[in-house]
Amino acid sequence: MSEKVYPVLKSTKAKALIDKDKYEKWYEESIEDPDKFWGKHGRRIDWLKPYTKVKNTSFKGRVSIKWFEDGLTNVSYNCIDRHLKTHGERTAIIWEGDNPYIDKKITYNQLYDQVCRMANVLKKHGVKKGDRVTIYMPMIPEAAYAMLACARIGAVHSVVFGGFSPEALAGRIVDCQSTFVITCDEGVRGGKPVPLKENTDKAIHIAARQYVTVNKVLVVRRTGGKTNWAPGRDIWYHQEIATVKGHCEPAKMRAEDPLFILYTSGSTGKPKGVLHTTGGYLVYAAMTHEYTFDYQDGDIYWCTADVGWVTGHSYLVYGPLANCATTLMFEGVPNFPDQGRFWEIVDKHKVNIFYTAPTAIRSLIGAGDDFVKRSSRESLRLLGTVGEPINPEAWEWYYNVVGEKRCPVVDTWWQTETGGHMITPLPGATDLKPGSATKPFFGVKPQLVDNEGNVLEGAADGNLCITDSWPGQMRTVYGDHERFIQTYFSTYKGKYFTGDGCRRDEDGYYWITGRVDDVLNVSGHRLGTAEVESALVSHHLVSEAAVVGYPHGIKGQGIYCYVTLMAGNAGTDELRQELTKHVRNEIGPIAAPDKIQFSPGLPKTRSGKIMRRILRKIAEDDFGALGDTSTLADPAVVDDLIANRQNKV
Ligand code: WTA
Repeated sequence: MSEKVYPVLKSTKAKALIDKDKYEKWYEESIEDPDKFWGKHGRRIDWLKPYTKVKNTSFKGRVSIKWFEDGLTNVSYNCIDRHLKTHGERTAIIWEGDNPYIDKKITYNQLYDQVCRMANVLKKHGVKKGDRVTIYMPMIPEAAYAMLACARIGAVHSVVFGGFSPEALAGRIVDCQSTFVITCDEGVRGGKPVPLKENTDKAIHIAARQYVTVNKVLVVRRTGGKTNWAPGRDIWYHQEIATVKGHCEPAKMRAEDPLFILYTSGSTGKPKGVLHTTGGYLVYAAMTHEYTFDYQDGDIYWCTADVGWVTGHSYLVYGPLANCATTLMFEGVPNFPDQGRFWEIVDKHKVNIFYTAPTAIRSLIGAGDDFVKRSSRESLRLLGTVGEPINPEAWEWYYNVVGEKRCPVVDTWWQTETGGHMITPLPGATDLKPGSATKPFFGVKPQLVDNEGNVLEGAADGNLCITDSWPGQMRTVYGDHERFIQTYFSTYKGKYFTGDGCRRDEDGYYWITGRVDDVLNVSGHRLGTAEVESALVSHHLVSEAAVVGYPHGIKGQGIYCYVTLMAGNAGTDELRQELTKHVRNEIGPIAAPDKIQFSPGLPKTRSGKIMRRILRKIAEDDFGALGDTSTLADPAVVDDLIANRQNKV
């Protein structure tokens, strides 16, 4: 761990919204009297009917979370309409294409027109308040229009990352019984087409076998590439929007009406539909966006996350637009046409605030500093990271080389479930320590506990829980409140358990050490080991599989698979390739195994439980310390696993 401290920069402090004193004062207020604190800050968004109740939450029993519950508002109104009088001609979205010669700017007035039209198209085709709409889109402005159009009419969107396979898309369509899909003919990334419509067609076919019929597919034309067409079901976006008006009344939504579902991986079972609601989510996304990034009026802000992830929801679309910011959306990848692309875009659009993932930073370090130094980056004022722990070396490079020591780095820890930043520096208030997400945001009460649930005080290492609710918190698992309670509130009764391990140092700084459950974090993408295992065993030659993570220089974690084949089959390199392809087809390229070890047996206890601890150690090439193996049914299995390990260092 790095011991270095970077005090708040003078230049940052001079203009920052929050300084040390204010942070401490507000934090104390937020903890002592959450009703008063959030009662005040809830008014940062416009309410069609103001709330009189603020917080009504319980982490006990059936777990119930309600914020601002008697208020009425609309997210799309807050992200667009309320800015029009004063800032209608301000750029809302800068879109930078995959091709460096293509970009466009969309003003708030234009955003209003586009979102209203898309909302009217949805209505015209029967979408109503509460209906679930699946959005399977690349990084083009229409993805944001689609989200805001749903919000405008009270439909619940479920954005599915464009890198997910037809199987994965189908699973998500079926889970929330979504009968309307918005997609695009093809996406473009790194100069290559991504067949989104073709994948959608396949997914709809798979969903139909599970008795969910998609009635309409709204297709945005991006490349003009050929696609199959189902007359009556498929409709072209560009044709449809010409038939409707550019005005659409925002629906009056209750604060606790659902805004979106976003599927995320857990330690067991299928991905869960994380449900976020309207009022509290928007207040929290907007407030964290403003204070964490020290967003100031007129800043150009760029978050590189895909709309398919929660970061794309809260910090590409909802937070910045609610704050009337100019948000940059980038269609492409960091290494196309070459590894200098990010910094070229920063210069081209004069980006002030830049937010990305450690995995991207690590891969760019490998490419060498020249790609960075080619650009001036003079517009940059602040850098941020999210998604996984950032190693101090990568932090230092980001700070010294990219930011030239004049931009604070905010390492923001949060989750799909939390809706917004939870532990993060505030640039004008927090001295930085590379590798630490530092201190809690307003209203966030972190607690460390040991495996038995004993509360750890002072400097300690333990499991990270949050003991009271904050407005951006997820409200339930869509369609399965029991799973919500079981997953988050039963390990340590009455507390929200994050699934992360964490250390608190003597200064009260938090250092996230990574997941303590069976969730992998591969290049900042969350994956359940159980999902990869179930993809593997769905192959006809596989009898059993166990998947663990291991440290990976660029991705953070790599995917290590132990596979037992059906009797009589040999583990060959061809089969390795075939299984890799199979997992890609079942889930998507992000889940492709890095290592596959064929093993005749897996280490199991006498009761048949796989001992993952042993598998993890072998995958880390650290089998000197396997610990107690005496409870294994067949200890000889371990020798074979060690002899044939794929990760010799
Ligand atoms: C990890 C992404 C360390 C963590 C917003 C968490 C981090 C999981 C950080 C959530 C960070 C996210 N430092 N670890 N700054 N940010 N994580 O739901 O393990 O895709 O539980 O949300 O990513 O991933 P998710």
